[in-house]
Amino acid sequence: MSSTDVRTSFTNRSSGLKTIPSVHTYNPLGSTLAFQRDPLGFLSRIVHQYGDIVQFRLLTIPMIVINHPEYFKRVLVDNNQNYDKDAFLFKVVRPVLRNGLIGNPGGESWLRQRRLMQPAFHRQSIAKFAENMTSKTLEMLQRWKQKVAQGRVINVTDEMGNLALQIVNKSLFSVDVGDKVRIFEQAFTEANTILGAFARFPFPPLSVPTLSHRQLRAAIRSLDEFVSLVIHQRLQSKENYDDLLSMLMHAVDEETGEGMSIEQLHHEVLNIMVGAYETTTNTLSWIWYLLAQHHDVEQRLHTELDTVLAGRVPTIDDIPHLPYTRMIIDETLRLYSPAWQTMRRAREEDKINGYYIPAHAIIFLNHHTLHRHPNFWDDPERFAPERFSPEQIAKRPRYTYIPFSSGPRTCIGNNFALTEIQLILSTIAQHYRLVLLSGYPPVEKLALISLHPKNGVRVRLEHR
Ligand code: HEM
Repeated sequence: MSSTDVRTSFTNRSSGLKTIPSVHTYNPLGSTLAFQRDPLGFLSRIVHQYGDIVQFRLLTIPMIVINHPEYFKRVLVDNNQNYDKDAFLFKVVRPVLRNGLIGNPGGESWLRQRRLMQPAFHRQSIAKFAENMTSKTLEMLQRWKQKVAQGRVINVTDEMGNLALQIVNKSLFSVDVGDKVRIFEQAFTEANTILGAFARFPFPPLSVPTLSHRQLRAAIRSLDEFVSLVIHQRLQSKENYDDLLSMLMHAVDEETGEGMSIEQLHHEVLNIMVGAYETTTNTLSWIWYLLAQHHDVEQRLHTELDTVLAGRVPTIDDIPHLPYTRMIIDETLRLYSPAWQTMRRAREEDKINGYYIPAHAIIFLNHHTLHRHPNFWDDPERFAPERFSPEQIAKRPRYTYIPFSSGPRTCIGNNFALTEIQLILSTIAQHYRLVLLSGYPPVEKLALISLHPKNGVRVRLEHR
């Protein structure tokens, strides 16, 4: 069926606008079950079949899926005041994120917190963190030496996760968390798995104490304990720190003159850790996975690193001179966007390209299919870093590629993440090749709240 099918593209009577096509299934639960089984496959099929705007029901919840750069622009940028985060996905993650920056529905309280945190993410601040990024990577390489000598297989996803948490804690909260990060990693994986399943089939409600919902509460307690440890350590300290934690602790509300409550501080710290952990870990995991399968790309990366760095530890000043390294990162973020989905709620009615959007509609912004849209990407499944050469970028409409989202709620950690990934990749790839194990099936994509390599990427380390 094409997107102009007569049954689906009729006009909304009251508004004179077009009505969004609905996914047709014979079984009333058909869409829900298909989405639950394979969300990425289901979404790809429906946008292919019905076009760039289509609605389906997740149990009783109507979802409007959009898949065109202009529609993303309308929601995230041009009419962003009309779209908040009081949407299904954020209600699902609320038990973990509570009122921190990621899940905050929007409005004044979000703006205040965002303004407060923004300076910690300015380019000058990130330059200060670059040193941590490489020194924590070198510490990890030191540990890898022994593993190489023993010919051991490593799960590089675990290694990258550990590293990402060390870096964010050291940079933004000035703590060396050491082995305790394992507590956070395990609890987070547990919560993500349970909430990922709930987001695909939201029943029974999270308040019902099923075994997995009780496990979720235990995981949240562990995450909270970890964050409390970081904050407690600071409260005990007599030293002065110039970091995000101290900015948050000393913030004063202009109107009330009051500081941030310990509870809010806790939520913000947790949100930053969650935002920084998962996304960076998964991006780096997929980079290693792709490099191990594309020797021509790996070879070109090595040539760039050897020419520019000649064995030196990279610094932030080297980054502009490593354009191919950056192209690999961009192309990985296209194919495996960690934030493969997000949602917004329309506060008032709107129109998107002549389609009627009712007030309170839930908009499902699907980065996974947007980044594969056949009108903008040739052979979209192919890994081809040259798509991100300046000439190729200039040829594409702006909103065809938005792994960090866009508009006011764009990722606050965007520059932090890109600097970190670039420095980690160029530090490691100067010393090691990561080789996939033979006889294993391809790594599958696991679409939880964010996109994961299922069971992680297992590799053998080879000295270059
Ligand atoms: C490759 C790495 C990353 C990717 C792909 C990514 C992606 C995103 C996306 C798409 C959003 C918007 C979500 C939405 O609109 O619903 C977002 C928001 C956010 N990210 Fe990231 N992120 C990354 C790294 C980071 C890092 C390193 C941090 C912190 C150090 C971070 C902290 C946040 C926060 C706090 C928000 C909420 C911002 C707000 O609503 O004002 N992220 N991220």
